[in-house]
Parts: sequence; structure tokens; C-alpha cells
Amino acid sequence: SSNGSKEKEKTLAMIKPDGLLGNYTERIKLVILEYEFSILKETTTQLDQDRASSFYTEHSSKSFFPSLIKYMTSGPVLVMVLEKENAIADWRTLIGPTDSSRAKVTHPNSIRAMCGVDSEKNCVHGSDSLQSAQREISFFFEEISSDSCNGKHFMASK
Ligand code: TYD
Ligand code: MG
Repeated sequence: SSNGSKEKEKTLAMIKPDGLLGNYTERIKLVILEYEFSILKETTTQLDQDRASSFYTEHSSKSFFPSLIKYMTSGPVLVMVLEKENAIADWRTLIGPTDSSRAKVTHPNSIRAMCGVDSEKNCVHGSDSLQSAQREISFFFEEISSDSCNGKHFMASK
């Protein structure tokens, strides 16, 4: 930009059902604020089978998919739009590797090490690319265009 400051970036963060059940929300938000992300939007929602499957559509052929969907629909999730410079990569670094049991060994200070259990119950989500971030933010915080759904995906938003 004209004053030389770097562009801010947005990413989608989610506290998954085990994170909410385990009362990790406050601890995770402290990390978010400590690392100077702004929380632009947040909402708590209960995913149903269709919406969880749609969110994780890239994994629909994986053996772990049915179990993942069962887990992701087992309770509410808290989704947030986080913003800062380099938000996407920085949030992925903070959450750590997918498998929380491995994270406890290799990345003990990561959020997944702190809050998660294994490669399924890993407590938090973070967008993995700019394209994913845009898709996932729209998924939760904007109406999906009318040609891509039948109306039932209307989102709560602020
Ligand atoms: P993936 O996109 O590989 O991980 P990440 O969340 O780090 O981007 O997988 C998406 C989710 O699928 C992951 O967070 C938890 C679930 N999952 C399993 O349940 N079992 C597995 O073996 C893997 C790889 C993922
Ligand atoms: Mg992923």
C-alpha cells in the first residue's frame, strides 16, 4: 500500500467440538490475542452431516471421512475470521501438525498439542491456503450464491 505497510490477510479458524467441550476457548483466544490477530467475526454453530461433509469435501474419499463427519457433528463449533499480516501461515504454525498426539512430541507449544487428542480430535482448524481461506470464510460468513445451494445453507453472520 502507499504507506509501505504490508497487506493484512484473513484466515478461518475453528474450535472443534472437543475444544469447546474441554473449555479451551479462553486459552485459545489468549493465544490469538498474544500473537496479535484481530478477531473480525465469530459465531458458534452446530454442523449437520451435509454441512460438515461440504466443509471437508476434499477428504470425502478418505477412509477417515465418516468418522471425521461424526466427530464434527457431535457438538457445536466456534468459527472465527482472524486477520493479521501472514495470518494463514502463522495460524497454521500456531495450531501445529494435524495429529495432536504427534504434536505433543514434536510441537509441544502448539495449540493442537495443548488441546487435542489424536489425528481426528485435534481441537482446531486453520485454512491451508489463500484459496481455502476465501472458500471457508464464505462458507460460514456469507450467503452462498443461489446457484450453489437450495437455500438451507444460509449462514448466521454479524
Ligand atoms: P487435513 O486437511 O489433512 O489436516 P489439517 O486439519 O491439519 O489441515 O485433514 C482434515 C481433518 O481430517 C483433520 O483436521 C482431522 C481429520 N483427519 C482424521 O480424522 N484422520 C486423519 O488421518 C487425517 C489425516 C485427518
Ligand atoms: Mg487441511
